[in-house]
Amino acid sequence: MLSRRSAFRSLAALAAGSPLFSQTEDVNTPVNVHEFEEIAKRKLHKLAYDFIASGAEDERTLRANREAFDRVFLLPRVMIDVSEIDTSSTFLGIRHEFPIFVAPTGGKNLVIPNADETVAAAALNKKIAICTATGTQKLIEEGKPVVWWTNLIGTPDKRSAETYARRVEDQGAQAIVLTVDNPYQSNRDRNNHNRFDYAYMQTGVPKPGEPIPPPRIPATAAMHKPHNPNLTWQWIGWAKGASKLPIIVKGILNPLDAALAVQNGADAISVSNHGGRQLDGAIASLDALPECVDAVGGKIPVLMDGGIRRGQDILKALALGAKGVLIGRAPLWGLAAFGQPGVERVLWMLGAELKLAMGLAGVRKLSEIDRRLVRKIPA
Ligand SMILES: Cc1cc2nc3c(=O)[nH]c(=O)nc-3n(C[C@H](O)[C@H](O)[C@H](O)COP(=O)(O)O)c2cc1C
Repeated sequence: MLSRRSAFRSLAALAAGSPLFSQTEDVNTPVNVHEFEEIAKRKLHKLAYDFIASGAEDERTLRANREAFDRVFLLPRVMIDVSEIDTSSTFLGIRHEFPIFVAPTGGKNLVIPNADETVAAAALNKKIAICTATGTQKLIEEGKPVVWWTNLIGTPDKRSAETYARRVEDQGAQAIVLTVDNPYQSNRDRNNHNRFDYAYMQTGVPKPGEPIPPPRIPATAAMHKPHNPNLTWQWIGWAKGASKLPIIVKGILNPLDAALAVQNGADAISVSNHGGRQLDGAIASLDALPECVDAVGGKIPVLMDGGIRRGQDILKALALGAKGVLIGRAPLWGLAAFGQPGVERVLWMLGAELKLAMGLAGVRKLSEIDRRLVRKIPA
């Protein structure tokens, strides 16, 4: 016979594993971004989850992005008055409350229809800048103070570059993010196994239980699909000749390219491997960051993206020379788990975790963060 206490415990354990428990699950249930991903995984169609979560081929770079953070440790300072902590900074002339920006992510409609607009609304509410091709148009028309960076450049010839730069400037963009690491659609094994059809990015995936039709654009064939293989440094000059918008070059890993970006007029770079989704075997973003920062030599600000899931990850990136970070999958896990409130909670959580990590590390403001705050310990 069970005692009353152990009977209660077994009932609680049963409830925790039962569907009843997940019905009571709300946006406050997950306590970190990893748990948002677990809920997103349960709620999303496998095709959609894999599309978002996966990296290219053997996913070495995808894993390396996270593992790089595991090898960097913080050396906290103590006996500093940290009762006030300021996470704000100025980037490209605009003051931001947090050094966190929402990265461009295509295919959000795999999660919910009009997802770009939902994520943009969440970013606005949390005062975070967002990079999106289309999501902010409605907010701008309504006169909302959204900070919007755009990202869909089209054909990389002079005339298109000029027309594009003028158009997005008129539409209210505050910067152009020029993605330079996807000349071709990459090879993603998970998508290939799933017979993922890139047309789903517009139409959404089949409903749970519905059969998966044969792909209209088979993922393996899409691997050979050129995006913009003729994109060169000239693009920056063309766009800058036609508009005043700053250009953030996203997808730099090699310090030689970091230096060339400066020479060719980039206003900022993001050290990035596209979240491990393009060239598998490419170096982790965090590992590439310090050399790229050195190559730029303080002439333009450097962002980084890839693997950010915690506030302490952001602190490590800032210590290694980033002025801010872009986050790709984290807001998508919030979106898939709980819609707009989920995105807002993820954005809030990362900001709050950063602030706490700064306080625990004895840092009062971003300008106090430098390489002396971290030590790389090889695995
Ligand atoms: C589903 C998905 C779609 C993406 N689409 C784009 C894109 O269209 N353009 C781009 O520059 N980067 C794209 N990225 C890469 C992100 O901008 C960013 O570099 C990457 O997600 C950062 O890694 P993280 O997801 O670990 O934060 C995409 C990433 C994901 C997860």
